[in-house]
Amino acid sequence: MIGLETVRLDDEEQALVIVDQTQLPGREVYLHLRTPEEIREAIYHLKVRGAPAIGVAAAYGLALCARRITAEKFGEFYPAFCRLKELLASSRPTAVNLFTALNRMDDCVQRFQQEKVEKIKHHLREEAEAIRNEDAAACRRIGEWGLSLLKPGMGLLTHCNAGHLAVSEYGTALAPVYLGQERGYHFQVFADETRPLLQGARLTAFELQKAGVEVTLICDNMASAVMKQGKVQAVLVGCDRIAANGDVANKIGTSGVAVLAKYYGIPFYVLGPVSTIDFACPDALHIPIEERSPEEVTEKWYTRRMAPEGINVYNPAFDVTDHSLITAIVTEKGICYPPFDRSLQLVCSRQ
Ligand code: MRU
Repeated sequence: MIGLETVRLDDEEQALVIVDQTQLPGREVYLHLRTPEEIREAIYHLKVRGAPAIGVAAAYGLALCARRITAEKFGEFYPAFCRLKELLASSRPTAVNLFTALNRMDDCVQRFQQEKVEKIKHHLREEAEAIRNEDAAACRRIGEWGLSLLKPGMGLLTHCNAGHLAVSEYGTALAPVYLGQERGYHFQVFADETRPLLQGARLTAFELQKAGVEVTLICDNMASAVMKQGKVQAVLVGCDRIAANGDVANKIGTSGVAVLAKYYGIPFYVLGPVSTIDFACPDALHIPIEERSPEEVTEKWYTRRMAPEGINVYNPAFDVTDHSLITAIVTEKGICYPPFDRSLQLVCSRQ
């Protein structure tokens, strides 16, 4: 793959190690995070990012920090554990994988509450490892299912970064691209730059280029042009939360790409693990959308502030693509077609 490890525990299991994605592609810097505050800050500032990677980082982080709780009795351990969990849960609101992972860790604690606290800590470490390994296996299967929808030589457009850097291995939207690369499919990938944080320009362009995939960077407002020119045969995007009716939250700008794809008759595929499906969320209106600071729009990446002082800025980090614009949702358990309220349930009931 690309020779970078998105998230792991260090060999002595004293720190959460992440590659700082805010420094890419210029510098490959690994951060060793030890405190819950450092881990929360790294997630909030997108040093580790992408829905599945956030979940894995939070799970490892919780296991790591729970080890330092000094309580010997469960009644003292559990409230301290919950405080850590709440702190990490407050880092970002939209990607449901964060909450799925934290709740799994909580279930683990509850399941073993009769055991000694030291034993519970050991189980937490194993649960975090299981979350990481299941994510890697899910991505590989998403890649296989996704590849079954594609043909060699296709032009593919992607938005944001749903690749290796957003997960444990392979990616979601980019998993079929990597598998196709291994099997000689020769895809031509167009990467939207993805304003304002440039995950497409900095991360997707970087990791695909490093893997030897033919990738062309375009500004977000160029997607229509390349589609009109017939250069795109499928759109592949990741997801942060899938509502029960198939509405999908993903990086801001995704829904615009979906509208364009519909107009040009190009299939629009969403790829993500079943842990991204939130059946408690009936539709788009119930998905919490993160809003971030105005400076990300007006100042970040510019040597001098580029917008007038005092200007109103609206900076939602995600938008929701209506289910009617989505051709299929590809999970590790299979491909869901409309009507999604039925197909998502069905796919999740599979072993
Ligand atoms: O704000 P980010 O960079 O965490 O947003 C990431 C995305 O929108 C991804 O497309 C999504 O999390 C899927 S990652 C496999």
